[in-house]
Amino acid sequence: MSPKQLPLWRSMLYVPATAEKFLAKAAGRGADGVLIDLEDSIPPSRKTEARAALAAAVATVRAGRDGEKPAILVRINRPWRLAIRDLEASVIDGVDGLCLPKVDSADHLAAIDEVVADLETERDLPPGRLSYFVLVETAKGVAEARAIAKASPRVCGITLGGEDLAADLGLPEPDPMVLAPYNAEILLAAREAGVLPMGYPGSIAEFSDLEAFRAAAEQGRREGFEGGACIHPAQVPVLNAAFAPGAEEIAHAEGVMAAFEASLAKGEGAVAYQGKMIDKPIVDRARRVLEKSNRLS
Ligand code: COA
Ligand code: MG
Repeated sequence: MSPKQLPLWRSMLYVPATAEKFLAKAAGRGADGVLIDLEDSIPPSRKTEARAALAAAVATVRAGRDGEKPAILVRINRPWRLAIRDLEASVIDGVDGLCLPKVDSADHLAAIDEVVADLETERDLPPGRLSYFVLVETAKGVAEARAIAKASPRVCGITLGGEDLAADLGLPEPDPMVLAPYNAEILLAAREAGVLPMGYPGSIAEFSDLEAFRAAAEQGRREGFEGGACIHPAQVPVLNAAFAPGAEEIAHAEGVMAAFEASLAKGEGAVAYQGKMIDKPIVDRARRVLEKSNRLS
């Protein structure tokens, strides 16, 4: 079985489903995905209104798209009575995926899968097309992360929700140092399952100090993550740059590939390049850099 082609999700921009002004220009902000939110940015008193506004919100974002970009996902609520109604509203033409909060078991995803598949059939939508962006935001979710990442072929990305996890763990705040081991669990779970590890060690709410946000995103990339979510358009270019290979990195990868191919032609598996030894794992990393940069260009 060939590994599934994962989407490019460097930057996923949350927009509350009721924020008409934000929705109008959301598609033009350069994000790889727009996450239309029915969950935490919508107060309980407005859940019904937000759900009723969803189809129009999707159409608004879709109208502003350039080709397939950005992907349009809907974040539903976790409690089942809300979740079912949210799914009924979200599994519609024009929606590319679902963002699923507070997922804490593979069984939870299996139940969502069943509802989504029913709706796809009933509505004549292409079966299995909707992808999932999974949020792990509880102690139980972290403990189950590996099973969750593998639970459904629809899962494309998984991330830690730092604010909610901090609350569940009884932390005074989502200190990135304290959350680091749980983020590492997400990275392992995602890589083992062949889905996108998403995240960075910093606050999603940081939209004023963009230097601090950039440092967090770049650290996320160094830790192996492929993208992250954000809440303000100013954060989008920062994520896009941090989670794409830079010019120097691309030039280095090209040099590594050229040196390695020359060494193979001579029948050697290891060779020196710029004073360092290169062999297969280094070449594999260089190949990944070039593949990603090709997909982005
Ligand atoms: N999506 C799309 N556009 C957004 C946006 C978003 N999330 N947040 C702000 N904008 C737009 C504004 O419409 C404005 O556009 P304009 O200059 O073209 O008119 C521009 O970005 C600047 O907005 P600004 O005045 O700096 O933001 P604000 O003070 O009005 O709002 C927040 C700040 C944090 C309240 C707002 O960004 C927000 O609600 N974000 C989403 C929150 C969310 O979804 N949370 C749940 C997920 S954790
Ligand atoms: Mg939350």
